[in-house]
Amino acid sequence: MHNATPHRQAYGVTPKSSDARRWWRDAVIYQVYVRSFLDSTGDGVGDLAGVRAGLPYLKKLGVDGVWLSPFYPSPQHDHGYDVADYLDVDPVFGDLAEFDQLTAAAHRIGVKVLLDIVPNHCSSEHPYFQEALAAGPGSPARSRFHFADGRGPDGSEPPNNWHAMFGGPAWSRVTEPDGSLGQWYLHMFTPEQPDWNWRDAGVTDYFDRVLRFWLDRGVDGFRIDVAAGLFKHPELPDSPDPQADARTRDSVNPLAWNQPEVHDVWRRWRTLCEEYTARDGRERLLVGEVSVPTAREHALYVRPDELHQAFFFDLLGAPWDADAFRKVISEAMQDIAGTGSTVTWVLNNHDQVRTVTRYGEPAPEGSGLGTARARAAALLMLALPGAAYIYQGEELGLPEVVDLPDDVLTDPIFRRTGSRARIRDGCRVPLPWSGQASPFGFTSEVEGAKLPWLPQPEWFAQYATDRALADTSSFWHLYRDGLQLRATLPQLGEGTLRWLEAPPGVLAFSRGDGLVCAVNFGPAPVAAPVPGTPLLASVTCPPGVLPGSTAAWWITDHPHV
Ligand code: GLC
Repeated sequence: MHNATPHRQAYGVTPKSSDARRWWRDAVIYQVYVRSFLDSTGDGVGDLAGVRAGLPYLKKLGVDGVWLSPFYPSPQHDHGYDVADYLDVDPVFGDLAEFDQLTAAAHRIGVKVLLDIVPNHCSSEHPYFQEALAAGPGSPARSRFHFADGRGPDGSEPPNNWHAMFGGPAWSRVTEPDGSLGQWYLHMFTPEQPDWNWRDAGVTDYFDRVLRFWLDRGVDGFRIDVAAGLFKHPELPDSPDPQADARTRDSVNPLAWNQPEVHDVWRRWRTLCEEYTARDGRERLLVGEVSVPTAREHALYVRPDELHQAFFFDLLGAPWDADAFRKVISEAMQDIAGTGSTVTWVLNNHDQVRTVTRYGEPAPEGSGLGTARARAAALLMLALPGAAYIYQGEELGLPEVVDLPDDVLTDPIFRRTGSRARIRDGCRVPLPWSGQASPFGFTSEVEGAKLPWLPQPEWFAQYATDRALADTSSFWHLYRDGLQLRATLPQLGEGTLRWLEAPPGVLAFSRGDGLVCAVNFGPAPVAAPVPGTPLLASVTCPPGVLPGSTAAWWITDHPHV
């Protein structure tokens, strides 16, 4: 038992019985961006031994599992989302023995381990791509990728007009083994990330081997990168609106994404995972990064024989507005109904500006308003039916680092958009653990230790985990208390929600028997929908009042609930 914190009322804690087999349905998973979590070697880059050292911290927070961002051998053009070998660990992050130790240590304390698998593309240094380059046009090695002749009299124009997601054309031309300028290959991200051709049976078989390799090592599932990708229109025709494709990072080119054949792969992977479940009764999770235009199409990916779950990014994309939140929550609940899945809520990840900054005015240290709103959003998310993902640092209320100098930025999007898009480095700055100055305990103090791979601002001191743990009013304690109640109260976790009447700018809903969550999106206090002191609130609430930019949970036997 822990002490009641200022924003929390004491409440009896009896773990609820959960479905061990289908553990993922209401799991809370913590996303570890390995290179920025904890560095055990002093090279300025986080690693797997660092993750292992951080497990007690995560256990204390109360998460059910971790998702590890890619740690495979990679030239790191897109921080590991350019995989050169799917069956090993990059020496920067450790080795397979360390991976095994990490998995065993996580399992000993009841924390599941999910890997990030990248099936849409690999690294241009992957041996299969190198083989394809050497083998020349028409070879079986080339058919594992999308090689095509260029257009124009001398083939000097790309085979079609598609844009890459990270800027520039989606095609690059190769030099053939004889030294002549030759074919082009498709890459929907950077040129260092050639797309696999999933119409080639060799690719399907290869990924079966990859999945088995890691499942045999004991992993509990996979987060699947770009899960609406994989197949392209077989004829690779021009896009009708290439400018629209280029304007957005969403997967909108209907010829390059979301092809019907991709569902066969998810059925195949589900069947493969079921084999492992049949051995010990524990389901292995497939959770997809699925960016498709509508919630209805999204739902197709989580049909009973496909992915278990797919991230629901609309919550992350919603502006701080009660109507917008209500709309996305209702749509998600409606579309997931009947699929057998549960909604996978997410407010932050390694590709997005952090909530504290997104919801507040842009200020380097974050603004009070952004923090208050992000705290409220956290309680809202943890009260919703389904699973939730927390991105490292979210539990500390860490703001985005918005003023990194250009010369330290590493995101390929920044480079490939002519320095226009500063999107992703600011949420990837290494975590502060302790102390008053960088490296804030991130890098172990060995002789000759290097600086963290992205510079940490001075103001990170106030967000360090040791301070957060010591201060019961911290963001961390709010998450910890929320997670503990989730693990305890039968009303929370999977199930349904019922909207309650609420004034404009306020959302209120009930969960199961008598749990009410209300969020006041506006600045002014309103009357609370439930009398009495909340069970948990994002700020201390006077009885009967829900202050502005605040969320709270109550247990009530009030008849209208
Ligand atoms: C996903 C990842 C992102 C990566 C991209 C290409 O969107 O989340 O970080 O750059 O895929 O693999």
